[in-house]
Amino acid sequence: MQGKYRPIWLNDNGDLEVLDQRYLPHETKIRKLTTGAEATEAISNMTVRGAGVIGNVAAMGVYLLAREFGDDKARIKDEALKIRSSRPTAVNLMWAVDRMLDIIEKSDNVLSDAKAEAIAICDEDVKRSETIGKVGCDIIEKIMQEKNLKKINILTHCNAGWLAIIDSGTALAPIYEAKRRGIDVHVWVDETRPRNQGANLTSWELLDAGIDHTIIADNTGGHLMQHNMVDMAITGADRVTRCGDVANKIGTYLKALAANDNSVPFYVALPLSTFDFESCNGMKEIDIEMRSEDEIHIMRGIDSEGKPGELRITPEGAKGANYGFDVTPARLITGLITEAGLIEADEKAIKELIC
Ligand code: MRU
Repeated sequence: MQGKYRPIWLNDNGDLEVLDQRYLPHETKIRKLTTGAEATEAISNMTVRGAGVIGNVAAMGVYLLAREFGDDKARIKDEALKIRSSRPTAVNLMWAVDRMLDIIEKSDNVLSDAKAEAIAICDEDVKRSETIGKVGCDIIEKIMQEKNLKKINILTHCNAGWLAIIDSGTALAPIYEAKRRGIDVHVWVDETRPRNQGANLTSWELLDAGIDHTIIADNTGGHLMQHNMVDMAITGADRVTRCGDVANKIGTYLKALAANDNSVPFYVALPLSTFDFESCNGMKEIDIEMRSEDEIHIMRGIDSEGKPGELRITPEGAKGANYGFDVTPARLITGLITEAGLIEADEKAIKELIC
């Protein structure tokens, strides 16, 4: 399961290796994870992040538990529940652990079945993101035709590229496909405070792919939309309810409001594993992660000599509140780009296409 665009892989000893996303774009560090507890920690401390990839690491973490605890299914389950609760909002995490436990429950050969299932979960994401790319790129072409554009400007928020779901991402998959089809595309990249996943990770991915983009401060999108400088917005998702409400990185809702006010199409790209069919009203039912206020106060980067380090930007003693995600109501979403096609963000349409 190796490939250029995979931030996680198994080494020859069967250990999990991951690209430590906390240090990108200035440093490339690889971490080796050998136990379920290490997988839990890597998810909660953001060594790995992005809905798809935390699902992948969760699945691999359950395989590592099978390596630690052999045929002791009860112990594996107890420990797997810790992985399952390592972050609360992205549902791919729970989906992957539940799928692994289901296989282990029925298995007579726990270790090899767990390993095969974890690899399958990762490999399936490759196909899912490729299809999402094609479905999304057809929409890009349609918008270009309708508006008679030679170049399209797409706004995205956070990082929903191959660092977040192998190996083309969700929101970035249509943009990578556009590049393959020779479409002239420019991306407005929201910096995505406080952790700066846009400025650090999305920009790093797009630079590597040779895709024209500009990083903007988070509050810029509305202004650009008012001046006809954004043709469409595409974001990823961490959880989508059966009624089409979308939980994604904090700030997504404000972009959707601005898009709606300016008639800019606002799409959300996701694999079907990001649907949470148990919930309908996202504002009431989705658990929004509260992260450490240190992420508000402290930024990471390099100094003028290129030396990496951290910098406090707020006054000592100031309070911070760090809401990780927000919910965009279905009514603000133009469509959901999935591997099953384009779906209206609406309970009936979601049910018809998926069930
Ligand atoms: O806190 P993060 O960095 O894990 O948040 C990631 C996002 O919000 C992405 O947009 C989301 O996971 C979609 S990408 C599959």
